[in-house]
Amino acid sequence: MPDHPATTRPLALVTGASSGIGRVFAERLAGDGHDVILVARRRQRLEALAGQIETGGRRAEVIVADLTTAEGLAAVEARASKGDVTMLVNNAGFQTYMPFVELDADRAEGQVRAQVTTVVRLCRAALPAMIARDAGAIVNVSSTLAFSAGMRAPHLPKRATYAATKAFVNAFTEILAGELEGTGVRVQALCPGVVRTEFHNVGDEPLLRPKIPVMEPEDVVAASLAALALGDVVCQPALVDRALIEREGEARHAVFAAGVSADLSPRYRVAKTD
Ligand SMILES: NC(=O)c1ccc[n+]([C@@H]2O[C@H](COP(=O)([O-])OP(=O)(O)OC[C@H]3O[C@@H](n4cnc5c(N)ncnc54)[C@H](OP(=O)(O)O)[C@@H]3O)[C@@H](O)[C@H]2O)c1
Repeated sequence: MPDHPATTRPLALVTGASSGIGRVFAERLAGDGHDVILVARRRQRLEALAGQIETGGRRAEVIVADLTTAEGLAAVEARASKGDVTMLVNNAGFQTYMPFVELDADRAEGQVRAQVTTVVRLCRAALPAMIARDAGAIVNVSSTLAFSAGMRAPHLPKRATYAATKAFVNAFTEILAGELEGTGVRVQALCPGVVRTEFHNVGDEPLLRPKIPVMEPEDVVAASLAALALGDVVCQPALVDRALIEREGEARHAVFAAGVSADLSPRYRVAKTD
């Protein structure tokens, strides 16, 4: 039996805590009274942040790990399964905006490891203790691009692997939320639009062009925490008309229901030509 120690102070594990949204999550959660476990590759940044958080009176552990590797993930997974994590923020990620056939295959696989496998394994590691305590929260950082699969929009980046990992995160999180109904554990897929972070600092061309509306990471984190309190499973920080999410769910439900039948659709009844 794993042991699930009762915690005295809440403890948040944040991946991708060395910059951007993850850093803001770590700072905000520490400010709200959490001890934190900070995960990323850049040790110096993590240690500087840990020092800042400890000066503020909270404990901060650092795990230097590359989540595109099995060893990196295993180290974080081992820590997440100790039973004392009360909040998990699966945030680490990077963009691979380019035509899929030009994307290095190992980098594509690394993105799936960091943004899919890691999310699955860390949720699996942290959840048993949360369920045993009937309390806990998981934020899986997705993207509004999770909704973009069917869009033929030339202004959007080429994004097959990136957006597909985020669509996975949304499906996984929504289905998990259903399984956790009736428990005190909340899960959320956080789907920001464009956020002002280092995510966009790839290559020589700045990706954040002047006309693109950009949200600050502090607002993204504030929205996520407010959404956890509201019980919103999908949180799109800029979304005003919440009914859109309901309608999107209803449309998917209708497609699902229409697809479960013993009868072949007339569209696919091809006359035999022999
Ligand atoms: N910025 C946006 O416009 C935007 C919009 C929607 C969703 N998002 C999502 O928000 C999340 C955070 O991104 P951000 O915007 O805050 O970008 P960011 O400032 O570049 O931060 C990304 C974080 O992920 C970590 N990371 C990247 N690759 C990693 C790896 N292989 N192993 C471990 N950690 C890794 C980075 O740390 P190290 O480099 O130190 O490892 C960094 O801490 C991502 O999941 C991203 O997809 C961003």
